[in-house]
Amino acid sequence: MDIEDVRQDIPMLKELIYLDAASTTPTPVPVIKAMSNYFYNYNANIGRGAYSIAVKATRKINDARSKVARFIKADTSDIIFTKNTTEAINIVAQGIDFNKGDSVVVPNIEHHSNFIPWLNLKKRGVEINVVKADPQGIIDPSTIEDAVDETTRLITVTQVSNALGSQQDVEEIGKIAQEQDVLYLIDAAQSIGHMEVNVNKMKAHFVAFPGHKGTMGPVGTGFLYCCQEQASELDVSLLGGGTVYDVSESDFELEDSPYRFEGGTPNIAGFIGLGASIDYINQIGLKRIENHGLKYTEILYDSLAEIEQVTVYGDPQNIYGIVSFNINNMNPHDVAKILDEVKGICVRSGYHCAIPAMRHIGAYQKGGTIRASLHYYNTLEEIQELADTVGELTKTWGA
Ligand code: ALA
Repeated sequence: MDIEDVRQDIPMLKELIYLDAASTTPTPVPVIKAMSNYFYNYNANIGRGAYSIAVKATRKINDARSKVARFIKADTSDIIFTKNTTEAINIVAQGIDFNKGDSVVVPNIEHHSNFIPWLNLKKRGVEINVVKADPQGIIDPSTIEDAVDETTRLITVTQVSNALGSQQDVEEIGKIAQEQDVLYLIDAAQSIGHMEVNVNKMKAHFVAFPGHKGTMGPVGTGFLYCCQEQASELDVSLLGGGTVYDVSESDFELEDSPYRFEGGTPNIAGFIGLGASIDYINQIGLKRIENHGLKYTEILYDSLAEIEQVTVYGDPQNIYGIVSFNINNMNPHDVAKILDEVKGICVRSGYHCAIPAMRHIGAYQKGGTIRASLHYYNTLEEIQELADTVGELTKTWGA
């Protein structure tokens, strides 16, 4: 499938320039059809009914889990369905039996979803050891290594920063975690669907994913990679239907993972859509998406960087899919609003749920940054239109 085929499957791209894949991607028609097929034809709960449409719904969601597992080179039982990346991270942060005096190593440029759940552990006497990225948002693995000591229980890092696009050497950090014999969690929110994510190579105990970003699945879906061995060590906080083998009046016996973590009726249509979106990404081809991303990120960065009065953040050699920038003396929200109003360009503006990262790059006082983020459906013309419009704005409003 080439870019034009994909654009045909996303009707809203005829009306606007969508440069906010890092927030969520638009859902292609085949994925919408897979979900509407469920609603029209076999809209039943899963794992409960013996009648045929309930059995079909259960089979479809199992298929989706297998597709997701194959996509990241995991076993099907290693995939816990969640509503988003945030929930996936919280399952781990709240599930580990931390003791007072344990510590967690976490970079200072994380999305809040991979920062606050760890900060919150302070209440339980866990120390948070925050390591600094370099000025371009890159984390030198040696800074992680230096931060690890005998109290460290877990290292966490985001593969591609949602705020800056900087890409971390997650495999190298994985080696450190392995050598030091500590747990390792990767936030893969901005890498999945954009590049190969192979959990075997990452050497991580936990990897948290969205379904609705790079993989082009629907909002309300995400998943956690967690092998059975680790899963059995985690405390479960969402208990209820579907999580147990047996219950007496005085006790209960938990199901194995992933089911023990998936209490209540899940987003059945959403996960069926996620399965269809994995098929869709495979049809395009991950390598093709990655090559497009590498080439177009560079073009996007360069076309903004050459405009006077524009500050572009991050190292162009190291960012992927996301470019954060500012126009001197303009508030990022004002810029985003004008881009939308005059050219129908959709970009995110503000702190990007990463306030420490904004402080780190000196953009906090400016109100954050403007962030353009790409996927395979974006064209060179769209990037040029953004750069031209930003150029026009600097002439009218910049200083
Ligand atoms: N995490 C998403 C973003 O960075 C919502 O925009």
